[in-house]
Amino acid sequence: MIRDLEIILGVTGSIAAYKGVILARELVRQGANVHVVMTDNAKEFITPLTFQTVTGNPVTSEMFELLTGSEIGHISLADRARITVVAPATGNILGKVANGLADDFLSTMIMATKVPVLFAPAMNTVMWSSPAVQSNVRRLVSAGYNFMDPESGELACGVMGQGKMADPMRIIEKIKAVLTPKDMEGEHVLVTAGPTVEHIDPVRFVSNHSSGKMGYALALSAIRRGAKVTLVSGPTLLPPPVGATTIQVCSAEEMANAVLEVAPAASVVIKAAAVADWRPTARAAAKIKKAESGVPPLELEETRDILKTLGEMKPQGQTLVGFAAETNNIEEHAKIKMVSKNLDIIVANDVTRKDAGFHADTNAVKVMTSDDKHIGIPLMEKEKVADRVLDAIVKYRRRMKAAK
Ligand SMILES: Cc1cc2nc3c(=O)[nH]c(=O)nc-3n(C[C@H](O)[C@H](O)[C@H](O)COP(=O)(O)O)c2cc1C
Repeated sequence: MIRDLEIILGVTGSIAAYKGVILARELVRQGANVHVVMTDNAKEFITPLTFQTVTGNPVTSEMFELLTGSEIGHISLADRARITVVAPATGNILGKVANGLADDFLSTMIMATKVPVLFAPAMNTVMWSSPAVQSNVRRLVSAGYNFMDPESGELACGVMGQGKMADPMRIIEKIKAVLTPKDMEGEHVLVTAGPTVEHIDPVRFVSNHSSGKMGYALALSAIRRGAKVTLVSGPTLLPPPVGATTIQVCSAEEMANAVLEVAPAASVVIKAAAVADWRPTARAAAKIKKAESGVPPLELEETRDILKTLGEMKPQGQTLVGFAAETNNIEEHAKIKMVSKNLDIIVANDVTRKDAGFHADTNAVKVMTSDDKHIGIPLMEKEKVADRVLDAIVKYRRRMKAAK
């Protein structure tokens, strides 16, 4: 979602300036056009050449550089961007902006901008908790500036405490959140993701290829849109989304218990997990030994049908969304599933495609609603697919409310 976006990255005089390079690199990798503005003190920590090489754009820091044409440097840059991110942000820049000082290029540009500004402070714990810095932060928050608070851990000065600049990936997630309209505020979205794992014995199990990427992308998108999000996840390699309550489960039965407990309070339930349909009838307490007598029988039994149960207990006003991972007659099978399980929306995907479905970073789906709207979402990154699926959910809920 930040592809082709113009982003200004302000870098100030902190030991964490090198992390600004990692942030710039990742923003560029995700397709953003990054313009770096450095303070003079930032240049004591890292050279402009590094940022220029990483971003492919010249670095600005001089207030009174010769100007091209009639453009005034700090104003034209401030106008072009969609967001200004200051990372790392020193106590000094926070103090200047909070108190209306504009004595260098970065602070002047921030004063001259109408776009959102996000600060990711980095400083020693004592500085961060000082009354001056905390009162400046409060003042900036109430003036509408955005913050990615520093993390706790061991700081460069050897002290343990809060003050480390937030992880660049978390800053990028925050940038996306700041830029997303909050059209799901007040909603409680329950998302399930990943596979389930059904044990045969302590070391062997039956599972499936779900990576969890689609469900996690949906959870992140809902958080950005202002929803309260609960994610119930089977085992995946993905980090829990910041801002969601994540419940980790293993088996289909554990997933059923967690989902059925949370679901009654949710306004939207999105079942993107690939829950096992069957599980071994018994789980051996000890590892089954390789027997001379040959292969042991593997008897299976049905797991609980969580989606069907959710359809039966669906409270008034709740939107229930199911996923159909199909290999043939995709739309037909998906529609049957939507009707038989009392779903409001079904998202059908063809898991035989190499570039879509399990494990892929991209997906192509068809969204079908119970009021007969069909929305084709062509192949794109799962993050974008998630946004489009949530667009469809938001519109469906508006239609339902209007029809009352
Ligand atoms: C080695 C060193 C590390 C510093 N690290 C930080 C820091 O992490 N955060 C901070 O607020 N100030 C830090 N400072 C102090 C700032 O560089 C100083 O306040 C400076 O005036 C900030 O200028 P600027 O905001 O214009 O870049 C550090 C100073 C030194 C010498």
